[in-house]
Amino acid sequence: MARARLNSSNTPEEELPKAKINKESLKSVKVLLKYLYPHRKKFLIGIFFLILSSVASLAFPKAMGMLIDGATKGIGNINEIALILMSVLLIQATFSFFRVIWFVEVSERSLADLRKDTYFKLVTLPMTFFSQRRVGELNSRISADLAQIQDSITGTIAELLRQIIVFIGGIIALSLVSGKLTLMMLSVFPVLVIVAVVFGKFIRTLSRKAQDKLAESNVVVEETLQGIANVKAFVNESYETNRYANSVDQVVLLALKGAKYRGAFASFIIFCLFGSIVAVVWYGATLVQIGEITVGQLTSFILYSTFVGAAMGSFAELYAQLQKIVGASERVVELLNEANEDLPLVKDAHQIDKKIVGSLKFEKLSFNYPSRKEIKVLDEISFEAKIGERVAIVGPSGAGKSTIASMILRFYEPDAGVLLFDNQPASSYSLTDIRNQVAIVPQDVLLFGGSIEENIAYGKINASKAEIILAAQRANADQFIQGFPEGYQTIVGERGVKLSGGQRQRIAIARALLKNPAILILDEATSSLDSESERLVQEALEELMKGRTSIIIAHRLSTIREADRIVVIDNGKVIENGSHEALMQSEGGLYKYLSQLQTEKQ
Ligand SMILES: Nc1ncnc2c1ncn2[C@@H]1O[C@H](COP(=O)(O)OP(=O)(O)OP(=O)(O)O)[C@@H](O)[C@H]1O
Ligand SMILES: [Mg+2]
Repeated sequence: MARARLNSSNTPEEELPKAKINKESLKSVKVLLKYLYPHRKKFLIGIFFLILSSVASLAFPKAMGMLIDGATKGIGNINEIALILMSVLLIQATFSFFRVIWFVEVSERSLADLRKDTYFKLVTLPMTFFSQRRVGELNSRISADLAQIQDSITGTIAELLRQIIVFIGGIIALSLVSGKLTLMMLSVFPVLVIVAVVFGKFIRTLSRKAQDKLAESNVVVEETLQGIANVKAFVNESYETNRYANSVDQVVLLALKGAKYRGAFASFIIFCLFGSIVAVVWYGATLVQIGEITVGQLTSFILYSTFVGAAMGSFAELYAQLQKIVGASERVVELLNEANEDLPLVKDAHQIDKKIVGSLKFEKLSFNYPSRKEIKVLDEISFEAKIGERVAIVGPSGAGKSTIASMILRFYEPDAGVLLFDNQPASSYSLTDIRNQVAIVPQDVLLFGGSIEENIAYGKINASKAEIILAAQRANADQFIQGFPEGYQTIVGERGVKLSGGQRQRIAIARALLKNPAILILDEATSSLDSESERLVQEALEELMKGRTSIIIAHRLSTIREADRIVVIDNGKVIENGSHEALMQSEGGLYKYLSQLQTEKQ
């Protein structure tokens, strides 16, 4: 954790990075603004109420001044003024109420739309995209970036608008009270506020540096304590103590440097800022003395000045906020602009336009993962599976077997060569047609957190209860499912952790049975099952393979003796291809070698 903080030390100001505000980056904000469009009426009314309540707040200093003049000079009726003040309050309260609820509604609804679109974009992106990004990064787009945008839709925009109104309105009100005094104030205040903001920022950076140094010294503590046995075994106690002492001394140096500036800042605030207030008030007092303004007017003036000063001070923070929003918008829009997979999304996703009967052919197909261009994962792979055949793919770990499965599902496009279904290139089928007719029982079965029933029905979303149970029976799963007190409604736990490996596999098989595909891919799990569950899984697989073209990626060679063809892959190349008997004939062949190894073990 400490390290993570260290790494982020070069991006000051909280978690999210800021972006430059320019024409280009504002375009992304504009793209996102279209999400406000459906809610524009409420948004505009909200803005209108915001303007009204900001303007109304400007009536206060004036009314306060009038009250004081009423008290000291008997100008006007005190009760009347108080009544006016109360009604302004009432109006403001009403406006604020509606502004808050409508702004929340607008921001929640528009953000929900944006979230849905971003999520939809994410799940329809091609696999190549995912192999190049980290899940955490994508997650943070959905959570942190979108949350930043949500805050800003109403928070920052509203605040900025309010401060601008107060700032401009305040200056107008000031000059109405006294032109001379306003000029006097405007000649000192802006400079001071700017100096204070810049100075304050500088001090914050310094103190952040000190914190990072402190975190660094904590890393030393953490490391040594975790590896205390090592420290002792190498008699490096004094070495580590020195390392820690150095780092702590640096913290002190930085803190002392920071303290100097902090002290200077405090003096500056006390002397210059308050001094100038004294100067303005003093000048105001002289104007009161010579009868140019009243005490009440001076009071209004001072109150307006604080309004204007506060507005000026808030602009720096609001600007930083805007930069963060622009940064977040850029990242989200970048994601929204990524190209989807070519999925026809209007029609029913499970409708099949072009049927696949079941033959499959790889012709000199080559591929490397975009994230690792230099390694050829598949190198001119050629093999064939005729309709209804069982073709086994074997080979060492990392040979490219699971990648072949991904190619059949068209998760990735080959770099060279073609994949043919029924002797027609895969590209002549839509992605949905292929994926609807090819089922995979993957190497590591991942279940979703819901019930067993939901997990089986994933193979056919609208399957009836009877269909689900039939599939489970054929997959040898019904028995263990019935054994659970809640039966098909048993919750499988996150990722299916509450089920054993063999149970998970049989659920995946039931899922595939329900899908009833023309082509089946089995990516055999490496983790070995005990012989009883292996028999149950094997039986289920036999049932599943009946009458369809099956590609079996196998580690246990005993399971594939009956295959029509065995394709041996090594380093992305097909090195042997033939029946079990034929391959066992080939002296010095990889298959024969692996096969002998496995029989020896048993
Ligand atoms: N998404 C990916 N991005 C980059 N490289 C990958 C990716 N997936 C796999 N690889 C690499 O491609 C090669 C082939 O991997 P693949 O998963 O196809 O092997 P495998 O034959 O299925 O191995 P195993 O028997 O262990 O399952 C490996 O070197 C692997 O590191
Ligand atoms: Mg694999």
